[in-house]
Amino acid sequence: MTDIEKAKEQIEKLRAEINRHNYFYYVTDNPEISDAEYDALMQQLKQLEEKYPQFASPDSPTQRVGAAPVAAFGVVEHPLPLLSLANAFTDDDIFTWYNRVVKLVGSQKFALACEHKMDGLAIALTYVDGRFTTGATRGDGFRGENITQNLRTIRSIPLAVPNDAPPRFEVRGEVYLPKAGFHKLNEERAADGLPLFANPRNAAAGSVRQLDPRITARRPLDIYIYSLGWAEGKTVPDTHWGRMDYLESLGFKVNPNNALVQNIEEAAKYYHSWVQRRAALPYEADGIVIKVDPIALQYQLGNVAHEPRWAIAYKFPAIQATTRLKEIRISVGRTGTLNPYAVMEPVAVGGVTIRQAALHNEDDIRRKDIREGDWVYIQRAGEVIPEVIGPIVNRRTGAEKEFKLLEKIFDKQKGRPACPVCGSEVFRPEGEVMYYCSNAACPAQVEARLELFTSRGAMDIRGIGESMAATMRREGLVKDVADLYYLTKEQIAGLERMGEKSASNIINAIEKSKNRPLSRVIFALGIRHIGEEMAQLLAGHFNSMDELANATENDLTAVPGVGHKIAESVVNFFNQEDNKRIIQKLKDKGVRLENEKAAISNLPLSGMEFVVTGTLKAFSRDTAHEKIRALGGTAKDNVAKQTAYLVVGEEPGSKLARAQELGIKQLTEAEFINLLKEKGQ
Ligand code: IVH
Repeated sequence: MTDIEKAKEQIEKLRAEINRHNYFYYVTDNPEISDAEYDALMQQLKQLEEKYPQFASPDSPTQRVGAAPVAAFGVVEHPLPLLSLANAFTDDDIFTWYNRVVKLVGSQKFALACEHKMDGLAIALTYVDGRFTTGATRGDGFRGENITQNLRTIRSIPLAVPNDAPPRFEVRGEVYLPKAGFHKLNEERAADGLPLFANPRNAAAGSVRQLDPRITARRPLDIYIYSLGWAEGKTVPDTHWGRMDYLESLGFKVNPNNALVQNIEEAAKYYHSWVQRRAALPYEADGIVIKVDPIALQYQLGNVAHEPRWAIAYKFPAIQATTRLKEIRISVGRTGTLNPYAVMEPVAVGGVTIRQAALHNEDDIRRKDIREGDWVYIQRAGEVIPEVIGPIVNRRTGAEKEFKLLEKIFDKQKGRPACPVCGSEVFRPEGEVMYYCSNAACPAQVEARLELFTSRGAMDIRGIGESMAATMRREGLVKDVADLYYLTKEQIAGLERMGEKSASNIINAIEKSKNRPLSRVIFALGIRHIGEEMAQLLAGHFNSMDELANATENDLTAVPGVGHKIAESVVNFFNQEDNKRIIQKLKDKGVRLENEKAAISNLPLSGMEFVVTGTLKAFSRDTAHEKIRALGGTAKDNVAKQTAYLVVGEEPGSKLARAQELGIKQLTEAEFINLLKEKGQ
């Protein structure tokens, strides 16, 4: 073999190897090698291609970085038009659609494919003799723009497909920007004074339709394939679902959240379950698409105008809106943080009126370039707190005001910045983004601490919420959380809008809370950085509050999962005289500050890891976790090799697939409850 022949062979080998790793990394999200190893392979290939330019090829993975700009996009005629979809907004709408389909088909015995309606840009990819040859936008459905060079930069689009793929075929899908990429892009644009993209669709379109593919290459675009346009020279499966499986086997990325259901009720269920969970998705979806699965029925049903009768889009309620940000104000948090928040002209989003939204910190406000008086995009998804995405720069009048925290809280009389609640001095610890109120007895802090202490995940003292906590503090009944245990019924009954009955309910609730597990008491104290999970971890390693209070930073960091920041925060907390006093007061009143007697390691589920997926009927996921822990087991959020059981509720998520992959044992809800009963819960 000559050197040239060897080089050619080597180049081909490297390309195949890199394509294989691209697939693992970008399509299955399961890389086999480190980024550094990947970069090394890429480097090797680049060098060989430079040395032997005769073997250069647009299919090479080195070309994904983007070719030189084109003057304008060429036109691509779609051999088969790209259709759009009719919209549905209510369950009634989809039932009506389904009934018509059933009538036309003359049967109910067909499956429906349910998919997320990705908020991106529709594209068509053509493959000839195993290679990606043309990529086009939808355009008007008949003719689109040739954006092949740009699409080549998207790593999850295969440049080549296996030999047994059809000799000529076209797939269709949606190019989109994941939420994280979309936010980052908008923040960068805001900081550069560029207009923001209103939504991920515009952002994806703006990124893909760049005349300079190098710009496209820098945007973290991704794709999901959602149909086979056409195929020649080979028989393909005769259902939509079968085709998606087949395309997946050819290396295309198909949304793992798709589902095949048997009737329209199940499709409605799929929709509602995702309406609730859409906020947790890494991408923006604006609805679901329901498709009649058998291709023969799709032909039979045909199209009306540009819309197929065999599919429908069931839109999610809107979650975005624009409004005017009137003012930025400051609230004081539990640990004394000065938290800026936006006060806006009220605006309805998804059936809820939004007036305020947290703004995190000054750096974040500056990065997003949010100014008082700005028109802003806001978003509220599901249970998630509303969020200001960024300003609409081209609606500025010049009257907008930049936000400076220290100016905002400047007290003219005192001649210095002051806590907006108690007037104390403020400070910013080195390396931190937040300012703090220096007064631990600041009313806002005390109230927030009381609120956390009494909340459901903590001591769960019913009847004392935000406003009762504030009243009790104002009336001087409580100065710290331990004072709750010193209250008398008469004191509570004497408060505004309080009767005998509610007062004794509160006293009972306080009494009952004395027996909460140690982990909850630790969490309830509101130690910085200690959330519920960390509190459980700590309670699993220290048998009493005293043991935890006496632990050194070294003792703490020796616990797997406890880092330096947490150790430091715990030690700091217990070093403070005020906190020592609180613990003593709790102890004096008989609040249990120890783990239950049974030695942790002898419990029936000791050493076993559980994961719960989907919705349980009998209790919430939190309660399920608690029951598992009460028996000595651990409750985790993600399935891993060491998971003992996956408890499968209704509408399980992706954890089920992962558990199947790993061969993890599954329990139905009934089996799980039996197990708990057997073990004594
Ligand atoms: S199917 C006839 N499936 O929605 C079938 N479309 O209004 C048409 N879209 O232009 C496409 N996710 O950009 C289909 N899972 C999905 C989709 C999807 C997003 C977009 C697509 C299309 C538009 C139709």
